[in-house]
Amino acid sequence: MSDTQSVNSDRIRACIIGVGNCCTSLITGIVSYAKNKSLVGITYENIGGYLPDTVDFVLAFDVDKRKVGKKINEAILQKPNCTPLLCTEEDLKTSSIEFGMTFKGPVLDGVPEHLSEFPDDERFIVDEEQPECSKEEISKLLKDNKVNVIVNYLPVGSQKAVEFWAQICLDNSINFLNCMPVFIVSNPEWSKKFEEKGLVICGDDMQSQLGSSIVSSRLTSLMLERGMDVQCSLQSNAGGNSDFCVMLARERLKSKKISKENVLKNQFIIADKDIGETFLQAGPSEYIRHYKDMKVAHIRIEAKGFGGFPMILDCRMSVIDSANSAGVVIDSLRFIRVAQRLGKSGPLYGPCAFYQKTPPKAIKFEDAKKECDELAAVRFE
Ligand SMILES: NC(=O)c1ccc[n+]([C@@H]2O[C@H](COP(=O)([O-])OP(=O)(O)OC[C@H]3O[C@@H](n4cnc5c(N)ncnc54)[C@H](O)[C@@H]3O)[C@@H](O)[C@H]2O)c1
Repeated sequence: MSDTQSVNSDRIRACIIGVGNCCTSLITGIVSYAKNKSLVGITYENIGGYLPDTVDFVLAFDVDKRKVGKKINEAILQKPNCTPLLCTEEDLKTSSIEFGMTFKGPVLDGVPEHLSEFPDDERFIVDEEQPECSKEEISKLLKDNKVNVIVNYLPVGSQKAVEFWAQICLDNSINFLNCMPVFIVSNPEWSKKFEEKGLVICGDDMQSQLGSSIVSSRLTSLMLERGMDVQCSLQSNAGGNSDFCVMLARERLKSKKISKENVLKNQFIIADKDIGETFLQAGPSEYIRHYKDMKVAHIRIEAKGFGGFPMILDCRMSVIDSANSAGVVIDSLRFIRVAQRLGKSGPLYGPCAFYQKTPPKAIKFEDAKKECDELAAVRFE
């Protein structure tokens, strides 16, 4: 673990878009760290002098009537959020972390119609009483709260809503962390706009700390490096949180599927192997409400070895889905801040490749990690 001595007093001021389960894990993890000065499972304790609790959540936008109008540390406790808390509710009230309010953002394409068929505890309920904040109101809130990074946790398939918030970042000179599969950081047109504005971006679609993407990609890359002929790589996931409920709308899944399959394709690019006829499939996913925030993944890889001998690898893993993503975000937020202070702009290629499913550039795992290590080792006066 890196030194905790050389820390600085600068703080990251984050604005969250979508106060769902991932946000709950992120915040309760940070509050727990702030109280105990330790937390199991942190990849980097010190990144450029920033410890995991140097983040304040000064502003948030959601559309759910149970969350809008509440302080962020209360909004994360509302349904349909169902992930286990990583600190107590009392810790959330008394924490040294600063929490701002949750405002109503534009709904756009954030809430799929099919959710209305589900019980209230499993779906989003749009606040029909509050008006949506206008662009001008949003700009004022961002400025007044001195936000320096926006974290996008919108539901899968929210193409218009994500583009709205990416443009807000550009208009208000705010860095962007894109945690979900609408392609902004990996889209050269968007990424160029951020670079020209001198803003730092990281994305797209976080790769959980140890989820099906990183496990299947590392196993695929191991096989390619050992000369195996990988013929098929399959992944199926089941979960019971609102993310999985949203993903029942297959038409919203296009970019999620592309993003998951990108993880595997990138292993062939890195290994300089022709993907040829290799059969790749990630998804579809299944909604099983009983699982709540537990995700169960099955991975199957079929390959041929020396002389064509067949090999089949089957793997089953179960994880707490949202907690599995939170460490990735705690690190990415700090990499963005450090890079900004170093005067960098545009995508952070190393951290993107290390932490995201669809990075702007495929980079070997070891090289991506080295870039992260170098950024983490930076210290400011
Ligand atoms: N391990 C993981 O959990 C993981 C990994 C990679 C990517 N992701 C992606 O991260 C995103 C967030 O995941 P989650 O589990 O927190 O989702 P969630 O369903 O728990 O939360 C989504 C939140 O967005 C809000 N929302 C809906 N429309 C909105 C709008 N127009 N404006 C503002 N808020 C709106 C909802 O009310 C809800 O609070 C999803 O796209 C998910 O696919 C998650």
